[in-house]
Amino acid sequence: MATKDTLGVQTGGWGPGPGGPAGAQLGASSVRRMLAHQVASGAIYASMDFAPYRYCWLRDGSFTAFALDRAGEREASERFHRWAAAAITGIAPTVRAATERRLAGGPNIATSMPPARYTVEGTVEPDDWPNFQVDGYGTWMWALSEHVNRWGAGSLLDDLADCVELVSAYLEAVGLDPCYDCWEENGDAVHTSTLGCVYGGLSATAELLGRKTAAQKAEDLSEHILSQRRSYGRFAKSNASSGVDASLLWLAVPFGVVGPGDPAMDATAAEIEQHLDLDGGTRRYAADTYYGGGAWPLLTAWLGWYRARAGDLSTAQRCASWVEDRFDTPGHLPEQVAGEHRDPEAYRTWVGRWGPPAADLAWSHAMYFVLRDELQRAVPDPSPNHQGSRPASGDDRPRRQGGCP
Ligand code: BGC
Repeated sequence: MATKDTLGVQTGGWGPGPGGPAGAQLGASSVRRMLAHQVASGAIYASMDFAPYRYCWLRDGSFTAFALDRAGEREASERFHRWAAAAITGIAPTVRAATERRLAGGPNIATSMPPARYTVEGTVEPDDWPNFQVDGYGTWMWALSEHVNRWGAGSLLDDLADCVELVSAYLEAVGLDPCYDCWEENGDAVHTSTLGCVYGGLSATAELLGRKTAAQKAEDLSEHILSQRRSYGRFAKSNASSGVDASLLWLAVPFGVVGPGDPAMDATAAEIEQHLDLDGGTRRYAADTYYGGGAWPLLTAWLGWYRARAGDLSTAQRCASWVEDRFDTPGHLPEQVAGEHRDPEAYRTWVGRWGPPAADLAWSHAMYFVLRDELQRAVPDPSPNHQGSRPASGDDRPRRQGGCP
């Protein structure tokens, strides 16, 4: 049965689990920080302490809603999904026009595409942000399906079905086109992790709405990723870069294009560990200079999630411990660390432009929480008080391709 812990956070009655009481405290703190980033409308700020991030990204918000679901925070997650659907419905003419233009063989016009981020009021900011990023739309549909399946939320799906159809048609039309990647860079390339997000989203709508066109496109995407995106025995960042990027882990967890045991995926993870490590944390990609290109807690947690799914619990636990050491006293978890030492000049350039980097990022908490939850499920708390008391979870459901719930 779900309970409130000492911080007033609903924990589903879990025990301390891996990391002991300190880990439990940090898990609870992460849930509290995710909820603190959510406003009444349901939108979730990416970060509240860093002005450029005082928006709601579909990408960050969807992964955060997923983590909130895993924490038993059904209502908060539902509010996010209702907010996202309302925001997207608010620009339905733009989404429809972009879809129809592509179906008619026309080009994508970056400035006329649905945005990556919205204001928390659900409006689109007229600025020059590299907004054409399709991954967030796929991730949203995947996270919504996780929510619906986890809680049996059929009436929510009924309410949002028109919007889901709209987004599905959009992704079916533009899913294989060049756009900015999940780091909001390289707008001329087709990014492998973005394809994974679109695959995850379309597989979700195929299942939720029985949409045959989505199922077909998801299959095409999977074939494309497997036939075009492997080089040197592992996955490559994009059609323009054969290097690795930590976001390639998403192909396995959560989107299930391949399973954690897939040889190319294992080789990708090994290369990420080898080439993107910074003092035990995981960087985005080798040439990253954003705030000095430091290590990202959310990506370190992702590596741990992947390793846990592949059965390597000791690496997963090491990743969790690394993230745990990055919490500050009020329980904040930054976007990245140590960029100022890795590349002081690049770090200073960014500080000059936007001020200090985000000190508390909702998505960092989300991925830490997911890893912690994953470890708890893998290493159950032996205490009899905690047996069988976890909330219903998609983790117990059959998985696509050995991927993640
Ligand atoms: C990251 C994006 C993220 C955004 C808000 C950017 O720096 O590259 O992935 O969505 O921050 O957190």
